[in-house]
Amino acid sequence: MVDNRLVIAVDGPAGAGKSTIAKKVSEILNVEYIDTGAMYRALTLKVIKNGIDSKDVKNIIRIVSSTSIYFKDNHIFLDGTRVDEEIRKNIINNNVSNVAKIKEVREELVRMQQKMAEENNVIMDGRDIGTVVLPNANFKFFVTASVEERARRRHKELLEKGEKNICYEQILSEIKERDRIDSTRKIAPLKKATDAYEIDTTNKSIKQCTDEIVNIIEGR
Ligand code: CDP
Repeated sequence: MVDNRLVIAVDGPAGAGKSTIAKKVSEILNVEYIDTGAMYRALTLKVIKNGIDSKDVKNIIRIVSSTSIYFKDNHIFLDGTRVDEEIRKNIINNNVSNVAKIKEVREELVRMQQKMAEENNVIMDGRDIGTVVLPNANFKFFVTASVEERARRRHKELLEKGEKNICYEQILSEIKERDRIDSTRKIAPLKKATDAYEIDTTNKSIKQCTDEIVNIIEGR
């Protein structure tokens, strides 16, 4: 238990539906939603905009401490500029895991995330929330789906956003690669916390998954 607040951790692999579900649950339960993936994405955007390679650890560490990332009214700001759309581009998908595996990056962003969750009722989603960022959360969920289904969803989402020159097979292999980096990295790899409820979203609607989570939290 975390004093008398409601603290919910949601983890899972790319494209499993975490963010959509967590956002809906936050509205139903009236708690603050914090998308930690968006924070790693925002830093990756800055890395790319500065012409730094996502494997150039030294230069990435150099910029991380002077970077401001915060949420306001459910929008994400990078150094004062709103970057909601830009961080969803496929170039970010394909570089973010390299940036997110750097120890100094994680230390800085985890510190920010823990601070954001300090005083409010929150639902936070990511890869290491139940295991590292909020190990004392009242409720932990591990949201999954088959890799083919996750690739189908991501492919559709990118097409809807107008990305060109992408095909399903390419997205499938990119998602597999991101899963591999996220699950095998040395620091805070993606894994199910022992006390997390697993929610498989493969053949379920958003509403079914949201209801499942809300029912568990409300003890029904
Ligand atoms: O939306 P999607 O599932 O594609 O990913 P995301 O939640 O936006 O996270 C993007 C990337 O950030 C992940 O693939 C991880 O490499 C990294 N990440 C992380 O390392 N730790 C977190 N708590 C959240 C995201």
